[in-house]
Amino acid sequence: MPFPLHRYRRLRRSESLRAMVRETSLDPADFIAPMFVVPGEGIRQPIGSMPGIDRVSPEVAAADAESLAKLGVLSVILFGIPEGKDARGTSSADPEGPVCRAIRAIKSQSPKTVVVSDVCLCEYTDHGHCGVIEGDTVDNDETLPILVAEALAHAQAGADIVAPSDMMDGRVGAIRTALDANGFGDVALMAYAAKYASGFYGPFREAAESTPAFGDRRAYQMDPANVREALKEIDSDVAEGADIVMVKPALSYLDVVRAAKERTNVPLAVYNVSGEYSMVKAAAQNGWIDGKRVTLEVLTSMKRAGADLILTYHAREVAEWLS
Ligand code: PBG
Repeated sequence: MPFPLHRYRRLRRSESLRAMVRETSLDPADFIAPMFVVPGEGIRQPIGSMPGIDRVSPEVAAADAESLAKLGVLSVILFGIPEGKDARGTSSADPEGPVCRAIRAIKSQSPKTVVVSDVCLCEYTDHGHCGVIEGDTVDNDETLPILVAEALAHAQAGADIVAPSDMMDGRVGAIRTALDANGFGDVALMAYAAKYASGFYGPFREAAESTPAFGDRRAYQMDPANVREALKEIDSDVAEGADIVMVKPALSYLDVVRAAKERTNVPLAVYNVSGEYSMVKAAAQNGWIDGKRVTLEVLTSMKRAGADLILTYHAREVAEWLS
């Protein structure tokens, strides 16, 4: 027998051969494009640390959602920057707030766009934490009814999916119960199930004006050192009624993504977060890496690890490259 018998390079010789045996591919329909929505009209403000991403007013968000849908990106997730903030994040449930207005605008201009709304209080509280402050911590159970009110407002505005990102215990069950009791049994729930206390959220917090005024989020978001704990979070969220579960961030947590995939049969989303995006953009702008090549490699690694859906700021450019 000649040596070596197996020559793996035989199937790498041409792009056609490589395409035939490729195990993972990217599809714009797998992407969920994040959008930052501000009050007002005709607004498009670039975010300095996230080149290519803007803060937009509701009707601009609708136009963007429509052009994304034409590129095959069928879903967006909305983050709101409200006019006013208070200690309890009351404006999060305002039916005239930027998120509810954007939901209505998108659903009327681009009906096939699946609108996901982020449900959290950090953009709406004056202290920037994801819930109500009691003493020196965020009070879990006091926060739940406020999150429920926010989710109901989004559902009422027409959201297809609500996505709690606050990391309070029991919020998935509380929101699911309230949706069902109020006639929103068809609204789906995507849980930020395993969300880590990460340094990779920096640019987002600038974009969404949601940096905590004191302390950090380590008393409610997960410790980056843990993976078994992520599986407990996922089990609980599925048991409480989550239709989709998420791991966030993505790139430094691909082992968690793989473990999550093996654990559950519900669709698995990952969040390719702001810091992951900004690092690629900054290095590309400096000519240190090939931005397009690295972006495709990063997103492919997330799918290869087991992600069904990817929330990514790269959604539009990648959809353009793939078309
Ligand atoms: C919380 C929320 C955050 C992100 C999404 N939802 C920030 C945080 O937890 O501090 C971060 C997303 C990103 O960095 O792209 N509402």
